[in-house]
Amino acid sequence: MTTENRVTIESLDQEGRGVARIEGKVIFIEGALTGEIVSYSSYRKKPSFELAQVTQIHKFSSMRVQPKCKHFGVCGGCSMQHLDERAQVAVKQRILEDTLWHIGKVKAETIMRPIYGQTWGYRERARISVKHVIKKGKTLVGFHEKRSSFVADMQSCEILAPKIAALLPLLAELVSGLSIRDRLPQIEVAVGEQVDALVLRVMDPPTSADETALRAFADKHDIQFWLQSKGPETIVPFHPLDAPALSYSLPEFGITMPFAPSEFTQVNSALNRVMISRAMRLLDPQPGERIADFFCGLGNFTLPIAKSGAEVLGIEGSDALVARARQNAVTNGLAGNTKFAAMNLFEMTEAAFAQLGIFDKLLIDPPRDGALELVKSLGGDNAPHRIVYVSCNPATLARDAAELVQRGYVLKSAGVMNMFPHTSHVESIAVFEKAIT
Ligand SMILES: C[S@@+](CC[C@H](N)C(=O)[O-])C[C@H]1O[C@@H](n2cnc3c(N)ncnc32)[C@H](O)[C@@H]1O
Repeated sequence: MTTENRVTIESLDQEGRGVARIEGKVIFIEGALTGEIVSYSSYRKKPSFELAQVTQIHKFSSMRVQPKCKHFGVCGGCSMQHLDERAQVAVKQRILEDTLWHIGKVKAETIMRPIYGQTWGYRERARISVKHVIKKGKTLVGFHEKRSSFVADMQSCEILAPKIAALLPLLAELVSGLSIRDRLPQIEVAVGEQVDALVLRVMDPPTSADETALRAFADKHDIQFWLQSKGPETIVPFHPLDAPALSYSLPEFGITMPFAPSEFTQVNSALNRVMISRAMRLLDPQPGERIADFFCGLGNFTLPIAKSGAEVLGIEGSDALVARARQNAVTNGLAGNTKFAAMNLFEMTEAAFAQLGIFDKLLIDPPRDGALELVKSLGGDNAPHRIVYVSCNPATLARDAAELVQRGYVLKSAGVMNMFPHTSHVESIAVFEKAIT
């Protein structure tokens, strides 16, 4: 059962939904923008809130734009294409500031200018779902539909790297012709500077006819197929076997980063460069300093820090990424002033932190869960005097900011980085400094 109603939208929430209130009840309305008067249809009702979809717009926001993608509204990949690009960033900035205040009770002394990058065709890492639908007699290749486990029937995608987006319908055609079309649920995309890798999750081995079709496709479209039979450790290159390694470069620092398709890299490599540049300016590493890069991955920040001449310790939970980071330090001539260690940072304690030695500065770039145990372990007298915190979740940043403030830090500055245009993801960067007592 759904109901129709007419409301004025007060703001946008963290997921890009319009927020309205009726008699104290909050209605979250997909597709509605701040200031608009809309009718909506609820698909979930609870005593204190409802989740709804816009059905009609009676007064339009001046910030409303025509979504570029024909799958917008169905595909779950984007939620903000109907909002002007600059306004999207302003919304994210407000979400960051509000969350810091409401969850962390902290305000930044300075709000940094947002970092912008290209807004279309930026996505170089993606997990794409595949579903052969017998009833439709066709194979679907795309992101999941909104609020659904169904795969969207995507002919194109405006945020994926253009070459990969153009391959979506061709991949659907390819898979539908394979004998294992029911046993191939996912394609992982990794765009590199020399090669583009597509990892096919294959639950049964391809037949020799399948292999022939895969080889022909890879050659025709100049991509490299990899096969994954079980967990990520089973990912192996399939064709061509003589392709160059996946890699991205950081020209400002003269660094090249090879990586494997199973390894974490930032989704938007152009914005990644700008982000690193800003992080380095804020961290201001100096020769002779000792700096830790927590959640260092393959060394994305560690190696640029090391270029300054500072001594850097990179810590990361994945053994494979630690090995990759070490290798990347060697190939970039930075092994002399970098060290890496594998550690579960969600289990950090004050004693374990003290054992790592004294640091002048920290860079922290955690996953969505944040870095609570790590920041709680910074209580000692020798705590670093500056922390640059890169966050993909304002809620955990705000929670961790409150902990840092309790430990004598001041939030000097914070700002958003538009790493994921048209989606509701909020990537941000914040600088904390130890207050002088
Ligand atoms: C947002 S990524 C950042 C990686 C790297 N800084 C970069 O820019 O490429 C977060 C990293 O945290 C690592 N990670 C996740 N959980 C962890 C844990 N419990 N302990 C240590 N590292 C963890 C992931 O493997 C991933 O490399």
